[in-house]
Amino acid sequence: MPADLRAGQRGYHHPVSDSDFPAFPAGFAWGVATAAYQIEGAVTEDGRGESVWDTFCRRPGAIRDGQTGDVADDHYHRWPEDVALMAALGIGAYRFSLAWPRIQPTGSGAVNAAGLDFYDRLVDNLIANGISPMPTLFHWDLPQPLEDAGGWLSRDTPYRFAEFASLAANRLADRIPLWITLNEPFVVTTLGYALGVHAPGRTMMLGALPAAHHQLLGHGLAMAALRAAGVRQVAIANNYSPAWAGSDSPADAGAAAAYDALHNRLYTDPLLLGRYPDLAAFGDGGAVGLDCVRDGDMETISAPIDALGVNYYAPTLLSAPQDGTALPFHIQPIPGYPVTAFSNPVVPAGLTELLTTLAARYGSQLPPVYITENGCSFADDPDAAGQVDDQQRIDYLDGHIRAVADAMAAGVDVRGYLVWSLLDNFEWAEGYHQRFGLVHVDYDTLRRSPKASFGWYRDMIAAQRHGSS
Ligand code: BGC
Repeated sequence: MPADLRAGQRGYHHPVSDSDFPAFPAGFAWGVATAAYQIEGAVTEDGRGESVWDTFCRRPGAIRDGQTGDVADDHYHRWPEDVALMAALGIGAYRFSLAWPRIQPTGSGAVNAAGLDFYDRLVDNLIANGISPMPTLFHWDLPQPLEDAGGWLSRDTPYRFAEFASLAANRLADRIPLWITLNEPFVVTTLGYALGVHAPGRTMMLGALPAAHHQLLGHGLAMAALRAAGVRQVAIANNYSPAWAGSDSPADAGAAAAYDALHNRLYTDPLLLGRYPDLAAFGDGGAVGLDCVRDGDMETISAPIDALGVNYYAPTLLSAPQDGTALPFHIQPIPGYPVTAFSNPVVPAGLTELLTTLAARYGSQLPPVYITENGCSFADDPDAAGQVDDQQRIDYLDGHIRAVADAMAAGVDVRGYLVWSLLDNFEWAEGYHQRFGLVHVDYDTLRRSPKASFGWYRDMIAAQRHGSS
């Protein structure tokens, strides 16, 4: 682990009024992020079709305590209250996802008008409140009929995805400048198809790699469809994790490089360099699972994007593989840092490292960056007065926003920062056990209560606006 990163750790009590708090450029987008399946609920209403997550949640043992997204935050009904919360926060951008099964219930064919109407109302309301909508087309809720036909392992799914992109953009493009195609294809491939801890729950290990290529192809095809519908800016949101070698040994360095290729480069080199990274460490002469690539695919995938969405939670510490493992690395816990309830180490300087590494790696090919997700879960229990004093989240946000400023001072072109998440919500296989929100949700009453971090973020945004006016 780089010693300088440890030294770069910040203290954890920085009120916004600190004179050393960085000033961001006017026009920098402050926002929050959510995703459809994690907040909407109403899974059988108004013609919504079934998604892989509806199915996966019913698999015994798949989700902690058998929880589901059936109700989630009931945002489908309570969205006016949620937009009012965002307006009170003073944000300029809201990243949310469009539920494919709500708009096109079976993943192909006719549109469900009620589904599009829902997002149309939401978008108008956001704009009326001065908030720029930033939709993601795919945040993991693939229509189940498409999964039944092979899901992202099938070459047909990218074409279906482009059709969906077109349907959504034909209705909404006139009001939305920046669209995001995919959220975290690494997680879908790895947790969904390789390890089976997310939907669709397949355990194919390296055999899952066609899901990576088909998602990237879907991104490229959807981008073309969005542009044809008049969308001006297209991005993708990848999650990145700096790969730290456990020691200076060549074996550990090789393990870190292999992990870096699998997690970080696999989803970015094709976009920005037009080729896959070297996967030789994974065997099969480096051709593992990618024999599905056809002529012309890389050109489609590497068509220029207007922005790169960066989701950051934590670095990963790697050492040489232990006996008996099929993978060329071993993931280790990272000692010496505070941890979140999800056991993620809190490493703000890792975000600076990530951004400067992306800039060094891709040079002029790197488009402007938005931090499309960054946040933390803690056991945020309300006190007797119903208040959640989440000082740890304030410390986390403070540290990471400063880390973004450090990267910008080093020359990285960052245009926005969006907190994951507005609300406590359905955290996938963890159910409702991880609370990431700036707003606490009581899952019995669905009552929303802003946490202390909500006030901190609101005041920080206001101070930035004040400072830049
Ligand atoms: C995902 C979110 C998730 C968050 C926290 C990201 O991987 O995009 O859906 O809730 O991390 O785990």
